Amino acid sequence: MTAPDPHTLTRRALREAAQRSARTRVTAPAQHARRRRPGMRVVVALSGALLLATGAAAATGAALTAPALAEPAAAPSSAAPQETVEALIQPIPAEGLPTPVMSPAPTGGTTGGGTLCEDPALAAAVAAGDDAAAIAAAGGPELFRSAVATGTAPCIRLDDPARVWVVINKQRPYVPIDVEPNPLRAPEGVRTLADTALREDAASALSALVQAAAGAGAGEIAVESAYRSYATQRSTYGGHAADRGVEGADLVSARPGFSEHQSGLTADVVPCDGSCATIDDLAGSPQGRWIAEHAWEYGWIVRYVEGRTDVTGYMPEPWHLRYIGPDLARTYHEGGWTTLEEFFGLPPAPGYAQ
Ligand code: DAL
Ligand code: ZN
Repeated sequence: MTAPDPHTLTRRALREAAQRSARTRVTAPAQHARRRRPGMRVVVALSGALLLATGAAAATGAALTAPALAEPAAAPSSAAPQETVEALIQPIPAEGLPTPVMSPAPTGGTTGGGTLCEDPALAAAVAAGDDAAAIAAAGGPELFRSAVATGTAPCIRLDDPARVWVVINKQRPYVPIDVEPNPLRAPEGVRTLADTALREDAASALSALVQAAAGAGAGEIAVESAYRSYATQRSTYGGHAADRGVEGADLVSARPGFSEHQSGLTADVVPCDGSCATIDDLAGSPQGRWIAEHAWEYGWIVRYVEGRTDVTGYMPEPWHLRYIGPDLARTYHEGGWTTLEEFFGLPPAPGYAQ
């Protein structure tokens, strides 16, 4: 009689654990109805102008000294006091961070005598930084997801910015706060409205998405903004805060060190028909409808959807695409998930720790 394969036992136990585990699943598909946000166009124009006109580094300097921040003449009465805005956009040394309550990936928990990480194939894939191999070694994307969500794959780090499954939100900043992805490159065959780039896997996947949309007759999709460094995000957030105050800014823009754009795995896209429109025009465009339906086929999800501000902390952003790879994106789509937090069993992150 042949001894049972311990890895098979582990997998079976994990499957059973996953079936037992309760999860919050949103069965209705995400609605991507357009919600125009007052002032958004102005804010985007302001931020875009800053970045386009001065470049990231210069824009950062400008944001620190800009009269717009020092004298927010047009700022609404609800705008934050100047010292508050300045405090939020100052470079924050890691040791000086406002001690966010980290929501680490569920860890620990052994099932049936071991964790999935005891599987040599998974351990090897994780050690090699081969995300696709790790997902395959876990038994496929759904088993990978459920193992992470139930804490039976503690070697899968949701806070590792080099991994395609990284989760960044208001409770989960980058560590270190100003980490930079490497290498980055512009997506081939895609119009970019600013000097911007993506991680290589995301760049290839965005090229494929844009080509497929055009091939399907949905029209041209361009990138307005993709990778944003810590410094650039500081400038971007500062512009929003000066315009609408901290509370308003926090609904539409991440504070520096908390933006998915810093991962190189995110792109804000716009529809073009000759000239390009704005991010606010995406949802009502053929391109936006195509993206809502097909982006997952190319490894992308719409990260901030209608009705999930309670979990993500952000208003809907139909234009903000996050690359999680084709395997996980298929599972995300087929499972009817609408937030990465719920997908991976993380707590909601509607606000910052302080
Ligand atoms: N607009 C999204 C939330 C960002 O700033 O990353
Ligand atoms: Zn975005």
